[in-house]
Amino acid sequence: MSFSTLLAADAGLIQARLDAAFAQLPDQAVIHAMAYASAGGKRLRGFLTLQSAQMLGVSPASSISAAASIEALHAYSLVHDDLPAMDNDSLRRGLPTVHIKWDEATAILAGDALQTLAFELLTDPSLGTADTRLKLIAGLAKASGAQGMVLGQALDIAAETATDPLTLSQITQLQAGKTGALFRFAAEAGAILAEQNPRPLRAYATALGLAFQIADDILDVTGDADKAGKRLQKDAAAGKATFVSLLGLDAARVRAKSLIDEACDHLAPYGASAQNLIDCARFTIARES
Ligand code: IPE
Ligand code: IPE
Ligand code: MG
Ligand code: MG
Ligand code: MG
Repeated sequence: MSFSTLLAADAGLIQARLDAAFAQLPDQAVIHAMAYASAGGKRLRGFLTLQSAQMLGVSPASSISAAASIEALHAYSLVHDDLPAMDNDSLRRGLPTVHIKWDEATAILAGDALQTLAFELLTDPSLGTADTRLKLIAGLAKASGAQGMVLGQALDIAAETATDPLTLSQITQLQAGKTGALFRFAAEAGAILAEQNPRPLRAYATALGLAFQIADDILDVTGDADKAGKRLQKDAAAGKATFVSLLGLDAARVRAKSLIDEACDHLAPYGASAQNLIDCARFTIARES
């Protein structure tokens, strides 16, 4: 099976799990906005969870609620990222952003409820013992909150108005939070589900997450908006601190490639069973959307 076929198959599983969750909720605008915001996307984070779990012997049936959880959390982060007070974007996944299609209050609330849905999904008994589920909940909380995604987003917004450009180490810290933390947790979740040592997967995903954000920043400069499904050429105008703004395109590309090599090296302990995760790493910097 090709990588894109595999990614699409896992995306279908994730969509079905999210659909089942939304079917339990009231027929209200805020719920429609949640379903709208969480539809589509590449599902890379959920793919990492399903595939790292599968590599360690955990079936999709026993990991799908964790994969759907991470995608719900990620969708919340995008809805809020697009708000006028943050990146002020009107297009996401090829469609109007939630605050454009509905209004800002609905976008804030749909994001809030996608976040709480993510944690509710981690309580699903299909994921294993209470201890396993508690570890997942703690892991997602750390990855998404004040030490992870939210911190990174705050640093990203603060950098727009900073007087001096950020250093390489400051940009690395910013990106490790805003993007890296969720990638790290997505892969680590597979090891938590399998009750195995999470270290190699954590190291893999740390490098992968950083390369992913560098690729996103490169796409902002060189990408095709129709393929990306979002407005591009925005970061420089907004004063965003990125590897591209600091190093330029060529050095950013070199850095992303070496991070992907590093990510794959960390999978050595798993041998041939890590092939899908290796393919995922290569896709991360070759993608057009
Ligand atoms: C976009 O993430 C936001 C970033 C962290 C750069 P993705 O590129 O994974 O977005 P979707 O989920 O595929 O739409
Ligand atoms: C978004 O980063 C990161 C999160 C949502 C946590 P960007 O602002 O670069 O993502 P895009 O380019 O809008 O997708
Ligand atoms: Mg942003
Ligand atoms: Mg943005
Ligand atoms: Mg971006």
